[in-house]
Amino acid sequence: PLRIAVLASGRGSNLAALLAACERGELAAEFVLVASDKATAGALRLAQDAGIPTLVLDPKAYPDRRAFDLDLFGKLAASGAELVVLAGFMRILDGEAIAPWAGRMLNIHPSLLPRYRGLHTHRRALEAGDLEHGASVHFVTAELDGGPVVAQAVLPIEPGEDEQRLAQRLLPLEHRLLPAVVALIAEGRLAWRDGTPWLDGAPLAAPMRL
Ligand code: GAR
Repeated sequence: PLRIAVLASGRGSNLAALLAACERGELAAEFVLVASDKATAGALRLAQDAGIPTLVLDPKAYPDRRAFDLDLFGKLAASGAELVVLAGFMRILDGEAIAPWAGRMLNIHPSLLPRYRGLHTHRRALEAGDLEHGASVHFVTAELDGGPVVAQAVLPIEPGEDEQRLAQRLLPLEHRLLPAVVALIAEGRLAWRDGTPWLDGAPLAAPMRL
């Protein structure tokens, strides 16, 4: 099984989806660590209940972002993780600290990248009058929400719906998308070569629609 570390700042429903996919036999993974920048993150409780080691690092205990990230990613390396999954990890990452993880770190982002990098993606999609919204899983690079997109889930926006409802309707799609992409990596079908995602032995020309 693929050794995975998950970083999460919040509720942890995407972590729960990964664990559930494992339970169902759809993802051959061993979760070696769940780490958070927030001691109150629901993801930590989920991990503890599943018997997964947890780690909390308080950003305020570090002089700057780079010091925090170097410590965090050093600890991830020590955990033996082969893949890092950002599942609602709400921090900007230092390029130097994450360089060793190039091609070995995924993020799920609640928009159809390259649209709406950063925060408040649901609100921004609604304000723009978009007809569809979605979520993306991408390899993480130093550019915020800017790494190569591997797969997307698309959702039609309903007339008159608000931000909260849109986010709520998107979430179950996220919960299918993220485990599906992680499973492709665990199966050796999806890989990273020279800065490009490859699927089944060929460069991925466009994001998969899952
Ligand atoms: C998810 O919607 C995820 O896409 C988003 O945070 C939420 C976490 O929910 N991630 C980002 O916004 C990353 N910038 P969860 O804690 O229930 O998985």
